[in-house]
Amino acid sequence: MADKMSKIISLAKRRGFVFPGSEIYGGLANTYDYGPLGVELLRNIKNTWWKHFINNRQDIYGLDSAIIMSPQVWKVSGHTDSFVDVLVDCKKCKNRNRADHLIENHFNKKGKEIKVEGFDVEKIKEIIDKEKILCPSCRAFDWTKPRKFNLLFETHIGIVPENRSLAYLRGEIAQGMFVNFKNVLDSLSPDLPFGLAQSGSAFRNEISLGNFIFRTLQFNLSEFEYFFNPKKQKWEKLFDYWKKEMWIWTTGILGINKKNLRWRAQTEEERSHYSRRTEDLDYNFPFGGFKELYGLAYRTDFDLKNHMEKSGVDLRYTDKETKEKFIPHVIEPTFGMDRSFLAVLLDAYSEEKGKKEERIVLKLKPYLAPYKAAVFPLLANKPELVKKAKEVYELLKSEFSTAWDDRGNIGKRYYAQDETGTPFCITIDFDSLKQNDVTVRDRDTTKQVRIKIKELIGFLKEKVEI
Ligand code: GAP
Repeated sequence: MADKMSKIISLAKRRGFVFPGSEIYGGLANTYDYGPLGVELLRNIKNTWWKHFINNRQDIYGLDSAIIMSPQVWKVSGHTDSFVDVLVDCKKCKNRNRADHLIENHFNKKGKEIKVEGFDVEKIKEIIDKEKILCPSCRAFDWTKPRKFNLLFETHIGIVPENRSLAYLRGEIAQGMFVNFKNVLDSLSPDLPFGLAQSGSAFRNEISLGNFIFRTLQFNLSEFEYFFNPKKQKWEKLFDYWKKEMWIWTTGILGINKKNLRWRAQTEEERSHYSRRTEDLDYNFPFGGFKELYGLAYRTDFDLKNHMEKSGVDLRYTDKETKEKFIPHVIEPTFGMDRSFLAVLLDAYSEEKGKKEERIVLKLKPYLAPYKAAVFPLLANKPELVKKAKEVYELLKSEFSTAWDDRGNIGKRYYAQDETGTPFCITIDFDSLKQNDVTVRDRDTTKQVRIKIKELIGFLKEKVEI
């Protein structure tokens, strides 16, 4: 299984999906850059998410709030105090570890699954000592005392050193929705229940290394806060409703195999300070088995209530019939987009043995694929074929993301497009010049059909659009 991960990392680099961050300077741990193909796939996932949860519904509105917010936001939300990981350092080799991961990996190797996130430092020390957990790097048993570290990324506003003030890069994007709650009420006057959604970058000072884009310093997060009146709707019912909707998105829209997914309720210790119930939708990653892909939390009225108290601004909602004023409660479905990207790649990856040769195919849903089609002239040294193929390429390019390839032989071009998940390869041959048609090869079946050029856009649209 770990082998699959190295194959994905290698494919991602080879085909321009994901590159290690700042690579020419030796890299920067836990940072990655999306390449030309990766940016298309990531954008397709994000756009599909937006279309599915915002554009296709009447009850969820979008937002795009600033990455740097008043530091008060993070104090009041509880992040400056409670957004912490417990770390231990190996005194011998100086290797730094997240204590919960160290312990969980230790038990994993013994075939036991436990969750340690949220345990206090004393309890963590007790487990490390009792289990005599060794440093994974140098095998010493010589740990510093476990210590808490805040995950918020600090930055400073101002250019004059003496007058610079502390600020934070957002650790979650949810706070943008809470601080704009009143603005949305005042401008759109929506009826409860309704959601506010955002998609954007979040930042966390993660120290756990490895596992590719699973855990990074900067990551793409898409989430929404679904506000409701707790007197009119039972939170348990809404929670179950959103569980089902998240499942539909993950299996139906992203196309992730159900066998690779499971729901897991977080333990009380594990839950974030703001949550009364959290369930994780886990994906069976090749490193260490089921791990969090997405989360669903019942945040009660924790955030709005605290922001109202500390800002002095009335964040209550007025019931349009009864005129009663109250603070809505909130259910929060949250979706890590980089983890979506990784799960989609892992799930789509397949190796097939053909009659003559093996091929690697990314069986991506066509609407997620970076290129919807690739156009080839059968022979690159026949100007009449190249001219016709360019015409077809220009025609398709205006409608879909389309690749052009005239290098090597047709077999090599198919191989490259299969590896990048292009659903259709279109070849212009000598018959095309007479008949005004092309061959269209299907990525998954490898079957070819001839289609008239004038029918090509309609044919592809039906197959590649969601
Ligand atoms: N607003 C709730 C919230 O932020 P979270 O469970 O801390 O909840 C949400 O994070 C999602 O963000 C996770 O389910 C995961 O998909 C993703 N995520 C969290 N930390 C990450 C990191 N360091 N790198 C990549 N993705 C991350």
